Amino acid sequence: MITQNTISKILDQADIVDVINEFVPLKKRGANYLGCCPFHDEKTPSFTVSQQKGIYKCFGCGASGNAVKFVMEYNQMNYPEALRFLADKYRIEVEETEQTAQEKEKRAESESLQIVNNFANDHFKSNLYKTQEGQTIAMAYFKSRGLRENTIDRFELGYCLDKLDHFTKIASDKQYELEYLKKLGLTTQKGFDFYRARVIFPIHSLNGKVIGFGARTLKNDKKTAKYFNSPENPIYSKSKVLYGLFQAKKSIAKADECFLVEGYTDVISMSQSGIENVVASSGTALTEGQIRLIKRFTPNITMLYDGDNAGLKAAFRGIDLILAQDMNVRVVQLPEGEDPDSFAQKKGAENFQQFIASNKKDFIPFKTSILLSQAANDPIKKTEVIRDIVKSIAQIPDTIKRSLYIKDCSALLHIEERILVNETNKLVSGKMADSGNMNRFDKKQTDDINYIPPEAYAQMAADQSSSKNPSNLSTENVNNHYLQESDVIRILIEFGSYVIDEEENQTVAEYALTELEDIEFETPVFNKIFEIFKLKMTEKQIPNIDHFSAHEDEEIQKSVINLTMSKYHLSDNWYQMHEMIIPTREENFEKDIYISIGTLQLKKIEKKIEEIQSQMKAAQGEEQIELIKQQMILNNHKKHVNEFLGSVVR
Ligand code: CTP
Ligand code: MN
Repeated sequence: MITQNTISKILDQADIVDVINEFVPLKKRGANYLGCCPFHDEKTPSFTVSQQKGIYKCFGCGASGNAVKFVMEYNQMNYPEALRFLADKYRIEVEETEQTAQEKEKRAESESLQIVNNFANDHFKSNLYKTQEGQTIAMAYFKSRGLRENTIDRFELGYCLDKLDHFTKIASDKQYELEYLKKLGLTTQKGFDFYRARVIFPIHSLNGKVIGFGARTLKNDKKTAKYFNSPENPIYSKSKVLYGLFQAKKSIAKADECFLVEGYTDVISMSQSGIENVVASSGTALTEGQIRLIKRFTPNITMLYDGDNAGLKAAFRGIDLILAQDMNVRVVQLPEGEDPDSFAQKKGAENFQQFIASNKKDFIPFKTSILLSQAANDPIKKTEVIRDIVKSIAQIPDTIKRSLYIKDCSALLHIEERILVNETNKLVSGKMADSGNMNRFDKKQTDDINYIPPEAYAQMAADQSSSKNPSNLSTENVNNHYLQESDVIRILIEFGSYVIDEEENQTVAEYALTELEDIEFETPVFNKIFEIFKLKMTEKQIPNIDHFSAHEDEEIQKSVINLTMSKYHLSDNWYQMHEMIIPTREENFEKDIYISIGTLQLKKIEKKIEEIQSQMKAAQGEEQIELIKQQMILNNHKKHVNEFLGSVVR
């Protein structure tokens, strides 16, 4: 483990503009730097870097983070790898905490296993290129399947000679331990070469290390398995690996789509034909871990499946898992008798792309039409179909997406939307009860809220300009609490430690905390952030942007960056476009704070009044009197806040 001390040093010294500029050309634009986002395809730059805040944000695709996060995403590194990368760049010595004996042993073993795999991979490649048998048998086989040499090279294909223990002997001569060779599945218990007379497909980790192998027989013999694969071992776990992801990851991010196929050869042929954003689950049923790997690069998965029934079943199984990860699934069914490999070889990239484009179906129409055709006119079967589809829809964490699918489905199945909504809701609430919390669902809502639609910006700008005019101060023209809430949180983060009241020597954070003591934000992540403020302030600290931009809770980290890097107050250009003159935040910050906090208070009061009014309809006697009292207090409160706001803007 890297020590906290080293991490702080790295974070202190890493200049975000310097770090990013190494990979992405940046130009100074106002207070920020601007470039073309490396995480999605764009022509007009929307990738914004704030040197002062130490963070980046892309207004096109939403990618955001600090210097470490950038290095992680750009270089596909994990956290410690990224820290080491930056330490190296800034010549910071990396201190490590002591490892336990067990940890050391485990690490040493993994390192040894990796070295053995590297050796095996080099050996298999050299068999292919440098031996007679490799050339006449294996290379000839690859060529007969239409593979070109640069493709064979790119996927590091190889060959294990048709000799009993040729490889095992060479490896043993080189002092590689038999125990490791067996653990990796390279050598059988009897000491023979496990992959003999097979062509080799190495399996790469996300970072390009060869962690396992698939080996195909060249015989047409039904008695031997077509493929032998590496067994589970400390460096290879098949449920956490996708074949081809290392080669495909850049294209996946760029295309914002990942094609999912079944086999090694499907990946290689499609990639060779020019469709490079393709991976395979390699014969195993798709796992959640594999789906999450894809999610790091895109939320869009398109499954390519053979026309036969087995392919369909596999597709159905995968679909629900993908939906549950809040990703989008589409399905392309290939013509009878074709698999992605044969189809790519036959059609070439352009025709294949065209076929995909015109045959790509969203999962609902896909699943519905297939199941319905199977159910024919049998009402019992049809009921099952409906339940089955509703079950899929219930996997989707996002409420809005769910309701859109229900609409589609209702039309396709000729069933009232209301019934489908009911059925789905039953399953969804059952699921929430099962999991014992609503986190997954909460999370999605806040993710959505991070995206502020253009109308909301316009609304904010309108509010901003109208706030110069006291008569316009009514909050009616603002349509939800999100804008007020986010404004308050943003101000807390950006100006928390500023002194707002010189006489009382009160900071903005202290003022906000007193004024908003018991506030319940509608956006859950804001409550989390507010709690952090409360907690830190009991320790006499006021958290700032640095505290959040590298926060371990990704939801917090993302929201804070989104708030503090919103177009709303960063893009001078944008204001000019709309011919608005808005004082800089710093000049105006006191007024801003009073208005933001006051407006939020007003909103909350108005909401309470509304609640009371609706309770009043059903209330009688004592209860009614109590409600009226409360309402009077609230109205009074509202008047005060309104007067205060009026006095501030004057
Ligand atoms: N598979 C496996 N073991 C087998 C058969 C298949 O592990 N005995 C896995 C392999 O990862 C294979 C995938 O399932 O790539 C799909 O199987 P299949 O379509 O039969 O293989 P292809 O990759 O299409 O191989 P080929 O085109 O050479 O027949
Ligand atoms: Mn095949």
